[in-house]
Amino acid sequence: MPAEQSPDVPDEPTEASVAAAEQAALEAFAAAGDLEALKAARLAHAGDKSPLALANRAIGQLPPDRKAGAGKLVGQARGRVGQALAERQAALEAERDARILREEAVDVTLPTGRGLVGAAHPLTSLMDRISDVFVAMGWEVAEGPEVETEWYNFDALNFDADHPARQMQDTFYVAPEGSNLVLRTHTSPVQARALIDRGVPVYVVVPGRTFRTDELDATHTPVFHQVEGLAVDEGLTMADLKGTLTHFARAMFGDAVTTRLRPSYFPFTEPSAEVDLRCFVCAARTGTVDPGCRTCGGTGWIEWGGCGMVNPNVLVACGVDPERYSGFAFGMGVERTLMFRNGVADMRDMVEGDVRFARQLGGSL
Ligand code: PHE
Repeated sequence: MPAEQSPDVPDEPTEASVAAAEQAALEAFAAAGDLEALKAARLAHAGDKSPLALANRAIGQLPPDRKAGAGKLVGQARGRVGQALAERQAALEAERDARILREEAVDVTLPTGRGLVGAAHPLTSLMDRISDVFVAMGWEVAEGPEVETEWYNFDALNFDADHPARQMQDTFYVAPEGSNLVLRTHTSPVQARALIDRGVPVYVVVPGRTFRTDELDATHTPVFHQVEGLAVDEGLTMADLKGTLTHFARAMFGDAVTTRLRPSYFPFTEPSAEVDLRCFVCAARTGTVDPGCRTCGGTGWIEWGGCGMVNPNVLVACGVDPERYSGFAFGMGVERTLMFRNGVADMRDMVEGDVRFARQLGGSL
């Protein structure tokens, strides 16, 4: 009875058929131009349904005496095909990697399209520098809110209820009427906050934004900055105030600066004084006062800020025993300091926000 071959039983592998299958595989691998094509070639020539896989399967059906020869024939061919596949795979992967490196390379030396880098505002830089002067002496930096209660801004600081500074022409009041809130007119409320929150002894420097109802012009701005200082301890005197201010002035304007204290009045200090600097445009430079000097108005002195010994009423309002503790305080305009120190003639440059102004001074204070 003739053996009927079912269609899926492969023919017995012959040298010619195996060589042809191997040859076809090697040619297909060589022709594969990329990994995608190689994958297709692999499925066709080394996959489960490839001629060599079928030939391998056919060996099982052979009579035992022919198995060994056919097995060797097919096995060696499959070995070479597998080897060729692996080599082609490696070569195409290397090509792909090289291409990716080439195509996706980034030249880190190319100039960028990035915009100009900004700079800290000179007022910010200057307040940082001022704070550093005091931190170097062991003082702490303190801050308070810009929207302040009338109690801290005025009452705690010994302002009478009818003090002119409370009137509408100076102070921005916060709606609604009766809110008891103002935009702080100075950094002095942080004196009271520091005394209450930190207790004594206390040494704080307070840079911050302040507000008064001034029109913007070359020497006024409704939003400005002050740096407050407060020291309360046992045995502090006006000599400590004077020495601290001298050190502060030298740190700002150089060792040659001359300061003077001119009697004045603030409700929260007693005695009180204005701190003046010898006019750096006329008197300090030439040794004589120019009666027509526009910087000092012909007086030879320019006003830098206010100061004094902390009024005992303030200590009492903040729960500090004035019999045991005394202290001094001062408050300087930061805009004025920047004008004197860096020759900025017009305050409007400080509020306009032109980055060229900030870049010119921002890093150099
Ligand atoms: N707060 C005062 C002002 O704004 C300055 C000052 C501060 C005076 C501290 C004395 C003591 O004018």
